[in-house]
Amino acid sequence: MKDLQTLESEITANLLAADNLDKVENIRIAELGKKGRVSMLMRELGKMNAEEKKEFGPKLNQLKNNLNDAISARKNTLEEKVLNRKLQSESVDISLSAVSVDNGSIHPISQVMDEVTEIFTEMGFSVAEGPEIEEDFYNFTALNIPEEHPARQMHDTFYFPEDENGNRKVLRTHTSPVQIRTMLSGEPPYRIIAPGRTYRNDSDATHTPMFHQVEALVIDKNIHMGHLKWCIEEFARKFFEIDNVKIRFRPSYFPFTEPSAEVDIGCAFKDGEVLIGEGDDWLEIMGCGMVNERVLENVNLDPKEYQGFAFGLGLDRIAMLKWGIPDLRDFFAADLRWLKHYGFQALDIPSLSTRASTVKGSK
Ligand code: DAH
Repeated sequence: MKDLQTLESEITANLLAADNLDKVENIRIAELGKKGRVSMLMRELGKMNAEEKKEFGPKLNQLKNNLNDAISARKNTLEEKVLNRKLQSESVDISLSAVSVDNGSIHPISQVMDEVTEIFTEMGFSVAEGPEIEEDFYNFTALNIPEEHPARQMHDTFYFPEDENGNRKVLRTHTSPVQIRTMLSGEPPYRIIAPGRTYRNDSDATHTPMFHQVEALVIDKNIHMGHLKWCIEEFARKFFEIDNVKIRFRPSYFPFTEPSAEVDIGCAFKDGEVLIGEGDDWLEIMGCGMVNERVLENVNLDPKEYQGFAFGLGLDRIAMLKWGIPDLRDFFAADLRWLKHYGFQALDIPSLSTRASTVKGSK
């Protein structure tokens, strides 16, 4: 039986020398395949007498099993090698810094929306939405601006053609219609902000046909102007990141609030720049007031039970003020040089978040 042992060592050595899966398969066919050397030996068993069979049979079977095991072991080793080589060639070096981070930036409007949302959600407001193509009812009538009201002319509205019922949709001229949609959609109390796009037919250095506003609405029992004042002051302090920011409420008129006010922020005009929190000048930043009883009645709320306040401010305008951007039209010119200059790095932590966490951490 020396022969069988020599055969096994020879085949095992060949297997170890086989450096790819094809070579292993060729050896398997050559030894254990139909016409393989080992298979031929098995065939010869048939011709042997009982004595020989008894001796030779188990040894041959053992050889066959050993070879099958050696072949699978070699195959496994080679497969593992192939896999490792593949993993290595496809690996990502996570310690490499990202190369394309400088290529895009956050637009100041997106940044301002994020910051405003962060400030108000921290105060307990949630974010509400409404359509940009709005019905006349929500944009005007329900907000106490009936047909023929002079305020309609002041809005420079983009109207859609009349439908078969004589109704004209509009591109919403302000975010105030979201107040109505909110109040008609659930039960008070409401505490929402609604940031979004608004449209008016107007264009110069401080007006563009599309611009952005954020609306705020609070309705509950026993809400008064003191709450409104606190909310706006708190917002201005946080947004402009100035603790002693000066705020002034000037009596004004809006059909949907009574009383109404415009809010000015203390500033200085120096060398063509606006400096917030300094000097004796004032700059208007928003309109506000206590929600008009007529508006509450239009959404089936009893003004004796529920009161509230609302305000609306131009997001583009406060972005211009915060970052000293002189011309509103540049926001929408898609000029890469402008975007590089005024844009924000996508991976920068917004300054407000950092500030909020330091304040919290220091308590
Ligand atoms: N909707 C007004 C505008 O676009 C802004 C405004 C003023 C909103 C007073 C309000 C408010 O909610 O109370 O000019």
